[in-house]
Amino acid sequence: MGAQAEKWVLMVTARTPTNIAVIKYWGKRDEKLILPINDSISVTLDPNHLCTTTTVSVSPSFVEDRMWLNGKEISLQGGRFQSCLREIRARANDVEDEKRGIKINKEDWQKLHLHIASYNNFPTAAGLASSAAGLACLVFSLAKLMNLKEDNSQLSAIARQGSGSACRSLYGGFVKWIMGKEENGSDSLAVQLADEKHWDELVIIIAVVSARQKETSSTSGMRDTVETSALIQHRAKEVVPKRIIEMENAIQNRDFASFARLACTDSNQFHAVCLDTYPPIFYMNDTSHRIISCVEKWNRAEETPQVAYTFDAGPNAVMIARDRKTAALLLQRLLYNFPPQPDTDLDRYVIGDKSILKDAGIKDMKDVEALVGPPETKGNIVGEKSKGDVSYFICTRPGGGPVVLSDETQALLDPLTGLPK
Ligand code: ADE
Repeated sequence: MGAQAEKWVLMVTARTPTNIAVIKYWGKRDEKLILPINDSISVTLDPNHLCTTTTVSVSPSFVEDRMWLNGKEISLQGGRFQSCLREIRARANDVEDEKRGIKINKEDWQKLHLHIASYNNFPTAAGLASSAAGLACLVFSLAKLMNLKEDNSQLSAIARQGSGSACRSLYGGFVKWIMGKEENGSDSLAVQLADEKHWDELVIIIAVVSARQKETSSTSGMRDTVETSALIQHRAKEVVPKRIIEMENAIQNRDFASFARLACTDSNQFHAVCLDTYPPIFYMNDTSHRIISCVEKWNRAEETPQVAYTFDAGPNAVMIARDRKTAALLLQRLLYNFPPQPDTDLDRYVIGDKSILKDAGIKDMKDVEALVGPPETKGNIVGEKSKGDVSYFICTRPGGGPVVLSDETQALLDPLTGLPK
């Protein structure tokens, strides 16, 4: 280590996206290594709207590993963090900063302590896969700090051990998590199917649905499904392998009709498997079901799918529109059917890529009624509209993978003390 051993703090800051599965991961064959019972495919979401930023730092003056999440100190003792830290330290290499006279030999990483600060640019408790972006960012930034030689696919196998779906956040665009065959999990990793530029007309609108009760955690839900559902084996062995091939083709050919059919039916089957679990698991609520009806009615009326929907382990709807024009029409319909509470202004109700709101010609809620037309218009819900069922909408698109942020102003830790800024 360098001469002025006690003084220096070395750090790296990185940004990593979240992702939404369009062929779902549900069920593990190994709980500890987090090995799934089927392949899955996801779309990476634009990190400008949904991402985790993490600063990792090392200094001989640190006395223990510490982590802050969204400004609050959290424990690193959980198995998911410890698995990632152990796997990364085992692959660490020599690091030298000649200008600052710092030299860390690879063996030193076993003794040196880390300070980590992480920030999600979206609400952590909103059910928006924050742990996927979070664990992927932790692994990616530590890999840069400790000079790992592994590529993103190999890093994804480490992130997987922190949170299964985190492995898919190591790439932008369209990503497949290959379940693998090895018992040690070495071949259970993510590969990129296509980058975010491959199909950049797609627009994604997320309805963050107000949840009244705390849902079943994914970890215990999956365990219960594998132990009690008769349908899950059929899904994993017969249905998903065929859908994976079809979905890869749909993405390669930008075939929206097939993409939408596969995404919607796979989401529906995932929730059917939850219902087939004993005791049954309900992740979607009335609002989620009303959103499905709305999209299904519209798609049927147009005779070819305009919008795909998919729901993870919670009531939030992720809708993928075939292009910007369709996304503008979708947003009009969503605002018509799910208006905000009277005291919520539109600027806070629709966040992310605001240009969709502009394309839709909506400046305030008064515009919506006029644009959508009478209740019997295609895809509209006729009848009582209860305000406040949706907390807010996020407009986004497919986005890029992890990046190192070089700008020191983006660091979440003080470069002198290694404590949160
Ligand atoms: N869980 C939720 N968000 C996280 C983050 N940013 N880092 C680690 N774990 C998380």
